[in-house]
Amino acid sequence: MRVYKVKDYQELSRKAANLIAAQVIMKPDCVLGLATGSSPIGTYDNLVAMYENGDVDFSGITTVNLDEYKGLDASNDQSYRYFMNEHFFNRVNVPMERTHVPNGTEPDSAKACADYNEILHQAGTVDLQLLGLGHDGHIGFNEPSDTFADETHCVDLEEITIQANKRFFASEADVPRQAYTMGIGTIMRAKTVLVIVSGADKAKILNQMINGPVTPRVPASILQFHPNAIIIADEAALSETEL
Ligand code: F6R
Repeated sequence: MRVYKVKDYQELSRKAANLIAAQVIMKPDCVLGLATGSSPIGTYDNLVAMYENGDVDFSGITTVNLDEYKGLDASNDQSYRYFMNEHFFNRVNVPMERTHVPNGTEPDSAKACADYNEILHQAGTVDLQLLGLGHDGHIGFNEPSDTFADETHCVDLEEITIQANKRFFASEADVPRQAYTMGIGTIMRAKTVLVIVSGADKAKILNQMINGPVTPRVPASILQFHPNAIIIADEAALSETEL
């Protein structure tokens, strides 16, 4: 794991965007694995600025997102498809038909997961997978468990995740209890994984991810075994980590 310690969220966002832009410039038809949440918003803003300056062209890329809430459609402003359109896809020149997010409107979980696996297989190996880190160590919506799931699956969200995400919803009751997520196996097969972590509230779990035992109880700890894992974290997030 290569860890870059940065001062704050602004520097984190710039650095992450630079790495993603470098990937796209070096391989214009690359497959980017993308994440939602608070962590990548600044990264997307920086990528949009680079696009507007004429420094990066996204017309050749394919994107696959990590996850989607089960039951939310693209018009719901809490869906991850809506988030991606708002923060990134509608602001750059990626062809919308090559942007992929699991289909939250498919009620049949087995079908939703099989369909997304098919999309992932068609897209091919992910060149760079962007990840945030959940407070319980989840990546995508791979919650702590007894095993590491390989491919796309439907998960019951942990209480801590529901609590963390309720800030985006009108009430806690509105937070979906299930989600479709890319599996750990797919994440591990990405050529590069880029984890961005900001804030003191992530300090404990970031230390477990980097220095703790590799265990499905802390799903992100598996990234210790990834041959090309890059972590960009700010001083607050790294305040409990010995490097
Ligand atoms: C989002 C995702 C989640 C988040 C994680 C951290 O697509 O897969 O794993 O990356 O919950 O969320 P934030 O960045 O909001 O702290």
